Amino acid sequence: MDKKIEDLKMLFDEEAVKKRTKELAAQINESFGQVEDLTVICVLKGSSIFCCDLIKQLKMPVQLEFIKVSSYGNAQVSSGHVKALDLTLPALKDKNVLVVEDIIDTGCTLKFLIDLIQNTHHPKACKIVTFLNKKIARTACIEPDFYGFEVDDKFVVGYGLDYEGYFRNLPYIGYFE
Ligand code: IMP
Ligand code: MG
Repeated sequence: MDKKIEDLKMLFDEEAVKKRTKELAAQINESFGQVEDLTVICVLKGSSIFCCDLIKQLKMPVQLEFIKVSSYGNAQVSSGHVKALDLTLPALKDKNVLVVEDIIDTGCTLKFLIDLIQNTHHPKACKIVTFLNKKIARTACIEPDFYGFEVDDKFVVGYGLDYEGYFRNLPYIGYFE
């Protein structure tokens, strides 16, 4: 692995990350309402850390599901191809669904997942939350319902996001120049 943690520049520190996650949870609580139940779909591996922090602050009854996709390999640019590694989900018909992503870049991954969920599972509602939104890189026609921060075309790591599998454990978001 050719990147050193000393070369990482801070983008959003731990306090900012915590504060924004809390704000997003409040928005989601408000949007879905407190009485309805929610199926949260965590997209592995990147959204694992954000998702776990987020759901601890949700007030409705939550069921947590995991799916696993890979779109990047180890490159720093999106391949545009989505590799489905595990898309096993329970019946979601008439359920409220929240798909949790770490970052939306081209949007290819999310477009693929949302089409699949809508067309094969027919949920009552399906919303998207992503911690980071790289709007500038969007090629697929998809936007999140909630997002934490907008980022420009930087390669970012931390809080679940990786470079060659590393740096997911950092409690902040940083980037390499
Ligand atoms: P998309 O399909 O191009 O929107 O890419 C989405 C996936 O690529 C995300 O779920 C991330 O796993 C990964 N990704 C995109 N940008 C970055 C980045 O800056 N750092 C780390 N991973 C990224
Ligand atoms: Mg990734």
